Amino acid sequence: MSLPLQKIGKLDRMETASIDELRHEQLQRLRWSLIHAYTNVPFYRNAFDEIGLKPMDINSLEDLAKVPFTTKADLRDNYPFGMFATPMSDVVRVHASSGTTGKPTVVGYTQSDINNWADIVARSIRAGGGSRGDKVHVAYGYGLFTGGLGAHYGAERLGCTVIPMSGGQTEKQVQLIKDFEPDIIMVTPSYMLNIADEMDRQGIDPHKLPLRLGIFGAEPWTNSMRTEIEERLGIQALDIYGLSEVMGPGVGMECVETKDGPTIWEDHFYPEIINPETGEVLPDGEYGELVFTSLTKVALPILRYRTRDLTRLLPGTARPMRRIDRITGRSDDMLIIRGVNVFPSQIEEQVLKCEALAPHYEIEVYKEGNMDCVDIRAELKPGVSDNDEVRARAAKELAHHIKSYIGISTRIEVVETDRLARSEGKAKRVFDRRNK
Ligand code: DLL
Repeated sequence: MSLPLQKIGKLDRMETASIDELRHEQLQRLRWSLIHAYTNVPFYRNAFDEIGLKPMDINSLEDLAKVPFTTKADLRDNYPFGMFATPMSDVVRVHASSGTTGKPTVVGYTQSDINNWADIVARSIRAGGGSRGDKVHVAYGYGLFTGGLGAHYGAERLGCTVIPMSGGQTEKQVQLIKDFEPDIIMVTPSYMLNIADEMDRQGIDPHKLPLRLGIFGAEPWTNSMRTEIEERLGIQALDIYGLSEVMGPGVGMECVETKDGPTIWEDHFYPEIINPETGEVLPDGEYGELVFTSLTKVALPILRYRTRDLTRLLPGTARPMRRIDRITGRSDDMLIIRGVNVFPSQIEEQVLKCEALAPHYEIEVYKEGNMDCVDIRAELKPGVSDNDEVRARAAKELAHHIKSYIGISTRIEVVETDRLARSEGKAKRVFDRRNK
């Protein structure tokens, strides 16, 4: 299913720059970004002044480790526009990320930020094998979420025809995919599965559609899920990474030639991996928390933003810029079950190993006395004959895989096809009912 290389359009200058050129450019841009943040954002000026640091003290990329971190709480404390470095009259757009509790975090863009973002997402779609003339169906939500509009502007910038469907109305999604024949779909992987189920219901064989590429992100997903989606739909499934605080979709994108984790567009976002407990910077290759510093953003420069996403930095392959490994999960999503650290993605891998099970599952955690208990609900695959014995066998198999690969005991309930709630955006699969 590999694409001919000539399909991948001309690369940007920085996509082919040598590491030396890249590091040189990063340092120049970093200096600008630090001065810009220090001069125009009281939060950053205070943070620097408190430790007696000046932007001019940063003379190398390694020196960045002296700069204090920025957290989501800092953005919340400065709600709504306190982190902006430009007057509101220069801010042409805001987005906000909902968060589960409290106030949203608000981000802003000048016209030049919007242009830059469109270029970076265009570069991302191109890295996935998209090009001018492709039709792109955008099923990320439009609105305060950055997914829809971010994908939209990038696809337009590349010269694609955009179908701005947004999330929801799943039957209509399928109708438009059938009638408009997009080449590319941009959507969360969990919503893609939901759309695929709807195709089944409407008797549409996805292999017969022209759709050839899915650009999936906004939530953690595993390589097993990639295989599941690629086989089921007959497309390439690539990983796009991003977060609103740093820009939106397109902070990194997997290249179709290698399919080995998103390349971070390092000419705009400087990545570091830190030990989440101590804040110490870790060498490339070691797992920890991903931290970003923006190098070119005007309205909302962000310095050493702690993403809470856990991964590691890997050397460049398709491009000289570094890649990230698949995000194992967010530190906030890690479940501690009787002392064992468990990520929902590990459970996903085990569910996908079971022949009789569909890729839909829910994890519920609760206490019985002092004991942590985990219930997992998983669905039978459509077409698998449904009886008590089949369900019991599938449940036993899943419990066995989880026990042997993750090391925890779980109670599994196998339910009928289509029983579990479906996602229309970011999936909610974990219900932790313990008082934290
Ligand atoms: O989810 C931006 C986005 C939209 C990315 C569309 C990709 C596609 P937020 O709503 O601010 O922004 O959520 C950001 O989502 O910190 C990760 O935890 C998670 N995330 C995003 N992309 C991936 C991915 C958008 N490819 C948060 N793999 C991030 C795993 C991802 N997790």
